[in-house]
Amino acid sequence: MSVEHESFKPTIVAFCCNWCSYAGADLAGSGRMQYPANVKIIKVPCSCRVNPTFVLRAFQRGADGVIMCGCHPGDCHYSTGNYYTRRRMTMLFDFLDFLGIERGRTRVEWVSAAEGARFASVMNDFVKNVTELGPNRKITDLRTKPEHKEGE
Ligand code: FES
Repeated sequence: MSVEHESFKPTIVAFCCNWCSYAGADLAGSGRMQYPANVKIIKVPCSCRVNPTFVLRAFQRGADGVIMCGCHPGDCHYSTGNYYTRRRMTMLFDFLDFLGIERGRTRVEWVSAAEGARFASVMNDFVKNVTELGPNRKITDLRTKPEHKEGE
């Protein structure tokens, strides 16, 4: 890790589905498993509830990394929600990489309700990787720029 990144604490947004990953996070908490406090968990009914614009908005608002957590394939409470998530996020994350938001800042992980230790270890690893990448550049919404005019 470079000297300039030593004191850097990344802001991480973790979208967690209610039925598995959020329960896994809960288990990690009740089992006193350590993971960084800068992981901000957003509970969603299913990982497929996460519209790609939620991820863009997180980066726009200053997130340094975004992780999507859901039930293991075959275990989604809504049968196939996580399959949609996997495809959708693969495309989105490749697109973000193309725009300059490195692939290491985005991740999809499957964590069950019984995997508190796995949740903590995934978060520790993700935070470590994002810390090494350093602060993220913010996505700018051009529509909010006063100098932006239609047709330019
Ligand atoms: Fe967990 Fe769908 S309910 S991924």
